[in-house]
Amino acid sequence: MSDYAVELDDVAVRFRSKKREVTALREVTMRVEPGEFVAIVGPSGCGKSTLLKLASGLLAPSAGAVRLLGEEVTSPRKDVGYVFQKAALLEWRTARKNILLQAEMRHLPSARANERADELIAMTGLSGFADAYPHELSGGMQQRVALCRALLHRPPVLLMDEPFGALDALTREQMNVELRRIWQDTGTTVLLVTHSIAEAVYLADRVVMMTARPGSIAGVVDVNLPRERDYAKTMSEPEFGKATGQIRDHLGAAVAAE
Ligand SMILES: Nc1ncnc2c1ncn2[C@@H]1O[C@H](COP(=O)(O)OP(=O)(O)OP(=O)(O)O)[C@@H](O)[C@H]1O
Ligand SMILES: [Mg+2]
Repeated sequence: MSDYAVELDDVAVRFRSKKREVTALREVTMRVEPGEFVAIVGPSGCGKSTLLKLASGLLAPSAGAVRLLGEEVTSPRKDVGYVFQKAALLEWRTARKNILLQAEMRHLPSARANERADELIAMTGLSGFADAYPHELSGGMQQRVALCRALLHRPPVLLMDEPFGALDALTREQMNVELRRIWQDTGTTVLLVTHSIAEAVYLADRVVMMTARPGSIAGVVDVNLPRERDYAKTMSEPEFGKATGQIRDHLGAAVAAE
């Protein structure tokens, strides 16, 4: 397939209200290959969430074109998985029923959806908690349920907006390892927004750095780490230090320029 999984072509987004006009993004051109894992980093308010909303069709650009899997995005797309910053689970539904919500919304055949839910529950280490309610789960487990829900329909593109921001450092590491494994197993394209430079470099093939608002692409760092990435070993690789250093320098400069 020669189509890009996600393609933004000279995109701008302006928000207008009576009180103010905000240019959130300008001249953003970005291409993500099928199966690629791309992380997006940049200062707060630079338009990262806006960019994910564009890719999924939740928002339309003010200028430029957005394409998903080679098709112009003109309305909310069903062929993406979306993980929001907060797990956003329904409190009155069990973990399993929260995951299956995706199937109900899409009217997927229930036998196959159930089978896939079981697979994902096992894959994310939630076995034994499928019948637990969200309040009985830890923050990390809730986020895993949200991840299973986003993956249930086998989306070719997974959009993740700071999915692990609220987790403690150790749980976050575990989630990073799990996400990387899931990405390898499923072959899905991932676009992940994060504030953690280490997370971006450990997970991604490429890290896209954005400028402060109005957000545009400031640069891209290729992560030349092996496909198999042991967490502790990766942290001590010279390439890891090099990539995180480049990103840190950039973000420091972007924040100083604000
Ligand atoms: N629906 C909206 N209406 C008006 N302005 C908006 C809307 N959504 C976002 N903005 C503005 O667009 C800019 C970019 O917002 P966005 O949420 O994309 O930033 P972000 O990079 O995700 O920030 P953070 O890292 O804090 O999550 C901000 O100035 C924000 O105020
Ligand atoms: Mg955001």
